[in-house]
Amino acid sequence: MSEYDGVSQLRADGSLRHLLSLEGLPRERIEWLLERAQRYVRPLGEPPARSNELAGITVANLFTEPSTRTRVSFELAAKRLGADVVNLEVQLSSRVKGESMLDTLFTLEALHVDVFVIRDSEPGVHGLVAAHAAPHVSVLSAGEAHVSHPTQGLLDALTVLQCKGRFDGLCVAIVGDVRHSRVARSAYQVFRTLGVAEIRIIAPPAFMPEENEFAGCARFTSLRSGLKDADVVMMLRIQKERMSQAAFPDPDRYFQKYGLTPERLALARPDAIVMHPQPMNRGIEIASDVADGPQSVIRRQVTNGIAVRMAVLSAVIEGRGGAA
Ligand code: CP
Repeated sequence: MSEYDGVSQLRADGSLRHLLSLEGLPRERIEWLLERAQRYVRPLGEPPARSNELAGITVANLFTEPSTRTRVSFELAAKRLGADVVNLEVQLSSRVKGESMLDTLFTLEALHVDVFVIRDSEPGVHGLVAAHAAPHVSVLSAGEAHVSHPTQGLLDALTVLQCKGRFDGLCVAIVGDVRHSRVARSAYQVFRTLGVAEIRIIAPPAFMPEENEFAGCARFTSLRSGLKDADVVMMLRIQKERMSQAAFPDPDRYFQKYGLTPERLALARPDAIVMHPQPMNRGIEIASDVADGPQSVIRRQVTNGIAVRMAVLSAVIEGRGGAA
């Protein structure tokens, strides 16, 4: 059983019920999700994949933090599978009148919502909602504070698999504000589970995670040393919203030391790919020449996001045994 915050993410038969974290999710379940996601991938310019797998199902998106990619792709994924979708404007909802998250859950359950997609800045909210959800209801994390972003981890893994054809033997370098990054944590969890040989953390001391996190990763404060011979370079935005104004580094100085430029990327393997979850801050953590260059797979990550979210939605509904 894959437990998160005391909640099992899997049903007794091993099917996926909730997706709150990639931590502890069995390798075979992750590989199954990636295979299913690949089925929904279509080249740009062709019509997107569609089905009626979620006909009769209602999906609610509850985002209390800003989002472009995750929110839009969850909405499109649900609609392309035939679901009804409601996007709750949390700032305009009765939450601002003091209604608790659980009362919001119970209200939406009473309106026949079957799947809750939640992004929240407060750690623990996702597990709390999942623990109180009705047996037929699933909770999917669209980002939990600095802790977890499991569908981002899956789409990152799918992108690496498409580009490299394998996980074993790869060296993945995660660069930037690792300390405050849920993307980095989910990437670490999924790549470790899938057998990536070497995961490196490259960050200034202030953005290094605590020592008890990212076990087994080599840590570098020098970008040049850390990038040497990497197969995958994953750049991260500085998470301004998770630090005090005083802790935010000078952007020009940060770029001079940690910005990914073509010259620095040349230290990695010649066929290295460059990833970024976005939003990007061009000229701070990444140069436009790199973000838009031939080694960048940043837009492919976005496209894969819909396929992964379709796979996750389809999995939780299929596993409960019947759509409507
Ligand atoms: N990568 C990601 O989570 O982007 P959004 O914040 O735009 O959803």
